Amino acid sequence: MAGRDPSWNPASDAAGAGLPRVAWGRGCHVHDAAGRRYIDASGGPAVFCLGHGHPEVNAAIAAQLDRIAHGYRYTFTSDPLEELTARVAAAAGPDLDSMVFVSGGSEAVESALKIALQYHSARGEPNRRRFIARRRSWHGNTLGALAVSDFTARRAPFEGALVEASFVPSVNLYRPPAGVAPADLGAHAAAELEAEIERLGAERVAAFIFEPVVGAAGGVLPAPEGYARRIRDLCDRYGVLMIADEVMCGAGRCGTWRALEHDGVVPDICAVAKGLGGGYVPLGAALYHRRLAEVLDAVDGGPLTGHTFTGHTLACAAGVAVQRIIERDHLLERVARDGATFRAALAAEVADIEAVGDVRGRGFFVGVEFVRDRASREPFDPALGVSGRVGSAANALGLLLYPIGGNVDGTRGDALILAPPYNAPPEILDEIVVLTGRAIRTALGGA
Ligand SMILES: Cc1ncc(COP(=O)(O)O)c(C=O)c1O
Repeated sequence: MAGRDPSWNPASDAAGAGLPRVAWGRGCHVHDAAGRRYIDASGGPAVFCLGHGHPEVNAAIAAQLDRIAHGYRYTFTSDPLEELTARVAAAAGPDLDSMVFVSGGSEAVESALKIALQYHSARGEPNRRRFIARRRSWHGNTLGALAVSDFTARRAPFEGALVEASFVPSVNLYRPPAGVAPADLGAHAAAELEAEIERLGAERVAAFIFEPVVGAAGGVLPAPEGYARRIRDLCDRYGVLMIADEVMCGAGRCGTWRALEHDGVVPDICAVAKGLGGGYVPLGAALYHRRLAEVLDAVDGGPLTGHTFTGHTLACAAGVAVQRIIERDHLLERVARDGATFRAALAAEVADIEAVGDVRGRGFFVGVEFVRDRASREPFDPALGVSGRVGSAANALGLLLYPIGGNVDGTRGDALILAPPYNAPPEILDEIVVLTGRAIRTALGGA
């Protein structure tokens, strides 16, 4: 079906019709109830940063559950909440030391948007209500996060009820606009954002939200060198807050704890989730700069956002265990070091497959884009369901990948995301490379 989003099977939200039944997982492997074993090369949508069934994380969860599952935030603080806060503040770098813990990526983004609005209201600029986002970005499924997302298939049924947002073009080094050299793309894209701020009137703009490395909507697209720095400068100049959505690319996935560290840039607000709790528990966070915290604390006594499960004790205990292991085992250094090797090995493995147009990424976050024609970079007809076919071929080979569609213009485009655990042994990474090549050849005929 044209425009069908291969990463999203609605059946999986209902009865799971047609899907294998998950049974158990250990390390890089998942086993289904029929006894089949899969290498989990994408961690679902880039979630399982320590693989499955890590004994230390499981033990920490069990121990916390034995004590108490949750101390409600208006009644209690807790050791896990305080330790996770301290760990995340230290990992995120100076000044991003205020945070709201939530239950996932959409809530993290939703909180980030609300913190931005609250900040401007508190500073006496309540007309700063408008968000600017980028085309081909995904920020989540709650109404606010969806409103700033440009993912055609996921928005379509809700159009008309979404808060109005502005969109500037995507920033895609593989597909720069006609006449723009890759080296000029960062400046070009920054100029587009500035023009939109000017068009709206800076006094109406609350924040610019973007994924430093675009995940599900773009097929792992790092921004050009210098782009984030230019955006930072623009935001400062116009009083617009910079929100980095690092739900997929952050928490170490790209080899630095925050993806934007790579660019030497500190956002005003940063949404993280997925790898924060490693998939063991639903967990996310909106981190915000001390400068914002001072305003929110002084005027409103703190951020006016949160939920029943904000700072959930068990979830924080799991997050602490995951983050402790990442730090103790030097896994970010490992991801930074071995990511380039993994990507290069994959690129070499698929180099002779005509349908592979690009292999790209950062750290253990890798995208493979398919094209009908390498020279023109023309995508396949969406009706062919190319990435979905590759995903199915991979499953049949015992490999789990994350196929996505519509990455070119919302409808056309096929790509795969690979996001192995940070602690995946080298021989598993090698196997992922070989099996991915085999799956692509099986699905697309090798040419
Ligand atoms: C960049 C980004 N932001 C937000 C979200 C929403 O997160 P969740 O699905 O945990 O609500 C996602 C999910 O894939 C994402 O990739």
